[in-house]
Amino acid sequence: MTGTGRGRLEGKVVLVTGAARGLGAAICRAAAQEGAHVMVTDVDVAGAEGTARQLAAEGLSARATVLDVTDQDSVDAAVRATAEWHGRIDGLVNNAGILVEADVASLTEEQWDLVMDVNLKGAWRMTKAVIPIMLERGSGSIVNMSSLGGHFARPGHVSYAVSKAGLLNLTRATAVDFGRQGIRCNAICPGSTMTDMLRQHLESTGDLAAMTEDNIGRNRVGRLGRPEEIGATAVFFLSDEVGYVNGSYLLVDGGRHATT
Ligand SMILES: NC(=O)c1ccc[n+]([C@@H]2O[C@H](COP(=O)([O-])OP(=O)(O)OC[C@H]3O[C@@H](n4cnc5c(N)ncnc54)[C@H](O)[C@@H]3O)[C@@H](O)[C@H]2O)c1
Repeated sequence: MTGTGRGRLEGKVVLVTGAARGLGAAICRAAAQEGAHVMVTDVDVAGAEGTARQLAAEGLSARATVLDVTDQDSVDAAVRATAEWHGRIDGLVNNAGILVEADVASLTEEQWDLVMDVNLKGAWRMTKAVIPIMLERGSGSIVNMSSLGGHFARPGHVSYAVSKAGLLNLTRATAVDFGRQGIRCNAICPGSTMTDMLRQHLESTGDLAAMTEDNIGRNRVGRLGRPEEIGATAVFFLSDEVGYVNGSYLLVDGGRHATT
């Protein structure tokens, strides 16, 4: 086996977007540890190369390529490079995302368009590009990174919340359209997990330590999520072990959604 895990993704090729850091990088590590060949992609190409270098240094199979999910040429080039690597693409994780903080009235049209373009249309562009390659083998697993924020509204998160809710129905639509042809699609809905995105959000709303404590107080496990827990969830959806899980989502939020 090539990875250090149980080989649940042995020999599969998995492309992860937004993987220079944070949850994307953790997903790459988790997939590679399970034996996948991981294409690490990001608009931040230096960051993507750093992630891939780190994994390769640990004896895992990883490569990096630049990818801006808002640019169709960039999408096509990254998908082509991934397919050429081992002649297949088995998994796609649409993880790239941005958060713009503005309420319904102060959000600009440009901000609305940018968030939709990255978070929602970017995932559709990627899905559309990999489906023909997955169909060649009659199998594939697509994982969309939604959010707890795709289920509930938080103050000042309108464009983010709408894009993440949209991802849940993109997930169902893909599952419904291609499930019979062997392509599954599911979504992960993380609660607060410590990454650069969360840190910037907490700092923008107040003192980091106080805001972190406030956030922890809202869930039922008494800590923030760990990126590797999202990595493990992505492996779960990517694995053939759960071939009957399609058009579904998993909330990974320490039970925050379960309380008032
Ligand atoms: N961290 C959390 O608490 C949390 C909770 C719920 C959902 N999420 C979602 O998880 C995903 C990853 O979040 P994170 O916390 O690791 O964020 P992050 O900001 O640390 O990382 C996001 C990555 O996406 C990349 N990216 C941005 N625009 C891109 C584009 N146009 N094309 C390609 N890549 C692009 C960035 O360069 C960055 O590397 C996002 O979709 C986010 O909405 C995060």
